[in-house]
Amino acid sequence: MNPEIIKVQKSFGEALAHITTPDDLEKLSIEYLGRKGHLSNLFLSLKNRPDSQKKTFGQELNKVKTMLVQSLDKKRVEITKQSAQQESIDVTIPGTQYPHGSLHLVTYAIEEISRIFQKIGFIRQSYHEVEWEYFAFESLNMPPGHPARDDFETFFVDHAPDKQYGRMVLTPHTSSGQVREMWRLGQPPVRMINIAKTYRPNWDATHVPMFHQFEGLCIDEGINITHLKGTIEYFAKAFFGEKREIRLRPFHFQFTEPSFEVDITCDICDGKGIVNKTKCKVCKSGWLELGGAGMVHPNVLKVGKINPKKYTGWAFGFGIERVFMMKQGLKVDDIRILYSGDIRFLEQF
Ligand code: PHE
Repeated sequence: MNPEIIKVQKSFGEALAHITTPDDLEKLSIEYLGRKGHLSNLFLSLKNRPDSQKKTFGQELNKVKTMLVQSLDKKRVEITKQSAQQESIDVTIPGTQYPHGSLHLVTYAIEEISRIFQKIGFIRQSYHEVEWEYFAFESLNMPPGHPARDDFETFFVDHAPDKQYGRMVLTPHTSSGQVREMWRLGQPPVRMINIAKTYRPNWDATHVPMFHQFEGLCIDEGINITHLKGTIEYFAKAFFGEKREIRLRPFHFQFTEPSFEVDITCDICDGKGIVNKTKCKVCKSGWLELGGAGMVHPNVLKVGKINPKKYTGWAFGFGIERVFMMKQGLKVDDIRILYSGDIRFLEQF
């Protein structure tokens, strides 16, 4: 072989032996095989050589070029393998922390409310979101055409009416579960806490079309208003804190008699209605409204196949979004933020 070619081949071999990194390997490749590299120079020198040498010189050069390319490839594989082996794992480095989600605020409230009532023997139910008119109204002493139905603005579902139960609705209150629970049990005692989604077509700063209610229903012999008041008081203190007081205000519902609205003392002004000698901005009167309640109307007991001469009962229905905001002492400008899916809001609780 031509001594010039041997020289280049030798120096390449020596240099290659010392290469340990991909960068150096790349440099070496350019130094020998690049456009101005040692091998290209020899190729260029071809035209100046005597014709008799040209053929063999060219053949030898091509052979060496192939060898160089192969050696470079081989080295590249070696280096990659080595660096993979050297890459050790440091087990003391803390693992990657992935952000983990949490339950929605309303779900937390539901869990807490369930626990509070389960402690005093109430059975948790979730009655239907899509319901027959019969359970939402008629069974609750509101016959078709009764004006009291207007108090419960209602979504109607596009579904063929049932002969007995009427049209389908998105239930506007959890009271629709009252008669269902009486039917399920067959006879008192009834102690139900029905927590479910409820729907009314309102969309503004204080209303969302889908919200949640929890409904207490207690029926047995000798049940009276003091039991209703005692239970709500127990709930109010467990959920909002020992300092809070409740009161019942006369009201009207078709399905309870007598009926009440339930208020709880405002925690901003401690029920005084006054903060720093000015009217409390949150409640204006010292009291905040929790929801409706009353003694179950005898007509409702009858529909529930319970003898109103022997048994009496009470019921209440409160909004969950409402009690959640009151618990937090939140004066949220727009209740819709609860369902906007904005975690900057949700993460604060
Ligand atoms: N269902 C009534 C409402 O949504 C509340 C209520 C429940 C009133 C039970 C009395 C008894 O306004």
